[in-house]
Amino acid sequence: MLIDPYGRKISSLRISITSRCNLNCFYCHNEGQNGYENEISPKEIVKIIKVAAGLGIRRVKFSGGEPLVRTDFEEMLSSLPSLQNVSATTNGVLLSERATGLKTAGLDRVNISMDTLDPGVYAKICGCSENIHQKVLDGIDAAVNAGLTPVKLNMVMLNGSRSDELDNMIDHIKRYNGDVILQVIEPMDFGHKWQKVDMDAIENKLQSRASSVVERKLHRRKKYQIDGVEVEVVRPIDNSKFCANCNRLRVTADGKLKPCLLRDDNLVDIHQASNSELKDLFYKAVKKREPFYKGV
Ligand code: 5AD
Repeated sequence: MLIDPYGRKISSLRISITSRCNLNCFYCHNEGQNGYENEISPKEIVKIIKVAAGLGIRRVKFSGGEPLVRTDFEEMLSSLPSLQNVSATTNGVLLSERATGLKTAGLDRVNISMDTLDPGVYAKICGCSENIHQKVLDGIDAAVNAGLTPVKLNMVMLNGSRSDELDNMIDHIKRYNGDVILQVIEPMDFGHKWQKVDMDAIENKLQSRASSVVERKLHRRKKYQIDGVEVEVVRPIDNSKFCANCNRLRVTADGKLKPCLLRDDNLVDIHQASNSELKDLFYKAVKKREPFYKGV
């Protein structure tokens, strides 16, 4: 069992398998990484996950860049040890043709980035052509049909997000009868210097529509039930509760353990480490973990 100096148990590993991406979203935090060249091989990724599983990690999330730009992703999935949950965060562009194969290879569920239902706005946010939006909507359908559920849609609330966007998104999601959950995310500013988004106003609006509200232990996130749709709000900024319940350790695309999304100065290199070295390096990284936002 991995427990950090602040008593937080590490139960989840978040692996960036590439820093490449087929979109160019202006707000992207790149999983807190700066462009890397050397991607870890499927063999090495599986080795890392096996050691992590031996240390009590039960959940693995693959991210990027965009994980589906790696054509060997299915190969990695099919060699994983038994885990409680294997998921991926994807932009959904390549999902419609891969969803069934991913499920067969061992993926349990996906998060799909979807900030707006307006193809024109989508194209501006993601730096792509408008027809990509439909591909992602098809990807969401395919993920639901393949059973990669619950599918979580990540909707980053951007400065210019119109107030009707959230209502439209909830309306759109109703059709999936509970197989799709909406995650409303406060944008983290990585030097873009945008105006702060009024998340309290957003939560008040959700509250006024909700038939029930519950608080999750993880990050103390609030979950609202609105017209049969589950809406979860993720507020990472200045949120010491967010950090207090953090149970994640990250792996960068070039093979380093990353104790905190928001820091780059405490990485632990695990490239080409043997199994026993890996175990020690996990302990070393966990020892370096500290909440980014402290306080009450
Ligand atoms: N702030 C908040 N969330 C972000 N994501 C990417 N960049 C940011 C940011 N600056 C989220 C998106 C994406 C996931 C991988 O990370 O929701 O789906």
